[in-house]
Amino acid sequence: MNPQEIDNYRKAGNIAKQVKKYAKQLAEPGSSLLGIAEKIEAKILELGGKCAFPVNLCIDDIAAHYTPSSDDKTTAEGLLKIDIGVHINGAIADTAFSIDLSNLEENKKLIEASEKALEEGIKTIREGIELWKIGKAIQDKIESYQFSPIRNLCGHSLAEFQIHAGTTIPNCNNSSSNIIKPGAYAIEPFATSGHGIVYDGKPSGIYRLEARKAIRDPVARKILDFVEQEYKTLPFCSRWIVNKFGPRSLLALHLLEQDEILHQYPQLIEKSHSKVAQSENTVILVNNTIEVIT
Ligand code: CO
Repeated sequence: MNPQEIDNYRKAGNIAKQVKKYAKQLAEPGSSLLGIAEKIEAKILELGGKCAFPVNLCIDDIAAHYTPSSDDKTTAEGLLKIDIGVHINGAIADTAFSIDLSNLEENKKLIEASEKALEEGIKTIREGIELWKIGKAIQDKIESYQFSPIRNLCGHSLAEFQIHAGTTIPNCNNSSSNIIKPGAYAIEPFATSGHGIVYDGKPSGIYRLEARKAIRDPVARKILDFVEQEYKTLPFCSRWIVNKFGPRSLLALHLLEQDEILHQYPQLIEKSHSKVAQSENTVILVNNTIEVIT
């Protein structure tokens, strides 16, 4: 990483920190997820950043990949996870926290387990360490609360305009002897009272550009040009596209997905429909030092 990139990561991280504080005040039982998402995303722009992905607001057994649609009526409740991504020129800060909106002991414990596991992960990660050791530290901490980590959700390396840049940071001991190299990493333990596996649920309305191909439909072509220009390879959502191009764009998104130009992410649901808590921070590893930027 060159000094300019490091500076961009720090800037993105700084914005993410402020947005996180702001988001904590917003999330009240009964407030609309749509309103929360739009306010958080507006705050990112106001502070000079861009969204690295749509704000994820996942309740209870939905572990990841829920963002409100443009006409979403869902209200905040239960165990709510707020996952925020900010980027400055493609340098991404990815951070998440969980809040208990129903005042349940189980929710509080799950949140504590994911937070302490994140601390363990951050204490363990350094240049040259084998991946399984980070996963084990996270797993041990979560299991000490009698919960399970979600084994098929992982932290990840970050690169310019790339949320998942190749290296995964396991949430359990996966026996991987691959080693951590200098770079940026998101560490994100998920703790659950259930199986510890997620499956693919309903389509999320979150997309990413998969392949640039010719498309006949003029609306679809206009959207594709916009996506390529504005989001590059970063995820975006139907809500953003509807806000910009109107409700007709939903059909165009469907065409683009059918032609395998766009990939749509599924919601990720805990297998036994148990509750899930998530905590996430982004770190940069440069010159054998670790810096938590979020
Ligand atoms: Co992440």
